[in-house]
Amino acid sequence: MTKRMLHAWLVCAGFILVSGCLSQHESGRCLTGGCVVTAHPLATAAAAEVLRSGGNAVDAAVAAAFTLAVVEPYSSGLGGGGFFVLHDAATDRQFALDARETAPAAATRDMYLVDGVVDPLRSRDGAHSVAVPSLVRGLEVLHREHGRLPWAQLIEAAERLAREGFPVDARLVEHIVEERERFDAESKRIFLFNNEIPGIGDVLRQVDLAKTLHQIRSEGADGFHRGEVAERIVAAIADAGGSLTLDDLAGSAPVWRDPIRGRFRNWTVIGMPPPSSGGLHLQQMLDILNGWSLRELTAAERIHVMAQAMTFAYADRSRWLGDPDFVDVPVDMLLDPARTDSLQALIGLDSIYPRHLVAGVGIGPHESDDTTHLSIIDADGNAVAATLTINLSFGSGMVAAGTGVILNDEMDDFAAAPGVANAFGLLGSEANAVAPGKRPLSSMTPTLVLGDAGVHAVCGSPGGSRIITATLQALLNVLVDDLDPVTAVSRPRIHHQWSPPDLFFETGAVDGLTQALEDMGHVLTHRQTVGNVQLIVVDESKGIPIGASDPRGIGAAAFIARGDDGR
Ligand code: GLY
Repeated sequence: MTKRMLHAWLVCAGFILVSGCLSQHESGRCLTGGCVVTAHPLATAAAAEVLRSGGNAVDAAVAAAFTLAVVEPYSSGLGGGGFFVLHDAATDRQFALDARETAPAAATRDMYLVDGVVDPLRSRDGAHSVAVPSLVRGLEVLHREHGRLPWAQLIEAAERLAREGFPVDARLVEHIVEERERFDAESKRIFLFNNEIPGIGDVLRQVDLAKTLHQIRSEGADGFHRGEVAERIVAAIADAGGSLTLDDLAGSAPVWRDPIRGRFRNWTVIGMPPPSSGGLHLQQMLDILNGWSLRELTAAERIHVMAQAMTFAYADRSRWLGDPDFVDVPVDMLLDPARTDSLQALIGLDSIYPRHLVAGVGIGPHESDDTTHLSIIDADGNAVAATLTINLSFGSGMVAAGTGVILNDEMDDFAAAPGVANAFGLLGSEANAVAPGKRPLSSMTPTLVLGDAGVHAVCGSPGGSRIITATLQALLNVLVDDLDPVTAVSRPRIHHQWSPPDLFFETGAVDGLTQALEDMGHVLTHRQTVGNVQLIVVDESKGIPIGASDPRGIGAAAFIARGDDGR
């Protein structure tokens, strides 16, 4: 046994009472180390290094978020926003931080209508699609209230990777290939090499982004939300015909919200509340599915029941969900056990509930594979699940000149035209209409699962409208089927979002079940992927947090042994 292993064993056996472990002993548990899982290996490495330096899960999450902004420029970034769900082991409390972007003061309800018809490109590309970024202020708030290490230390890795560069990976190349037509001149200058697609292994340097990160390191979030960076963002948007002001940027104010708290079997599930639909609908689906012994159903029945739960949840999403600071979101009504019972009663095992009887409005949420997720637990049992986004791949396609900051197109998550038929003849939801200062509805589903001893699982995924269903299935694989985390994130998935009526499936998800599902009334459609889950599950008998990054992506997990982290 090495000295380090001996130390870890002694700590976990309770012979050494180090301060970090004391509270865990009191609650009957001692983790053998911390664990980080993110969608990119360099972000995982940055967060793991922070844990090794004695940082807690929040410190590591801040470092990972800044690093993802550099190495996954298509998924999240300083010009976007995100949601954080955290567990504080010392107080046994959970928190949810809403760092969602907001509509600028100049936004109007009908800003995406041209001659009474929705112009979808206006909400997805360029200056009119940009909502007020909130990520940097959110990270500052998170760190100020729950972090341990100095702020500047947490941005070091990101700044270095931006300045010195990192090798372009295949996923980044794919995104550039797909999005280059949407790039503005500044994006082309940064992400194309001599106007060509970079090759795998070429080094991408983002010198302006490094300067912006340096400002944030030395001035805090004001280095982004005020001063030169803010002025450049405002100027870029104005030059492109939009309106987002210095007051908008300075006024960005993340909000602590009460998490969604629910039960599933013997577990407590902690999710992100509105303006994300993620936590609410994850819990709604879990509640509905609690009506069945899922392991006793046939494979086709299980997929059918899941798809029906998804259908009801996404129909509700389209009707009721929006920013709770602007509309009354009936969370209690939607999670009312009596209502859950009545939805369960509508699900027969032989056929689908007639779709025209499921009340929803508008088209389902817009599809895109983008956004990113990180899951972290430290050896003291503190945990963070965070999902971060700039919305579509490379956001609006705009970089504010001189900042390196890719601007989001989060305005596309609003219902562009409530009450007005869109190109498909369908109506948009009033609850999610555009209004100044309002947050667009999200699907992001950062989730913690708690057991008696503390955090049992940390989970979430990118994937647009498929985020909630990807997270659901990964958790069912763990909580119902006892699958190990690697198998849990790998297993093929399905997705249903009420509109369109298709039951989407990944390769392998419905093998041998097609006829049975079609006989029930399902319309089967193949999809390449459903999400990119980043999962940690604690092996409760050994106190080991085990991480798994979805093989659909390029992410990585790291375990940091107690003792390697100064605890
Ligand atoms: N923009 C993706 C989401 O918020 O769900």
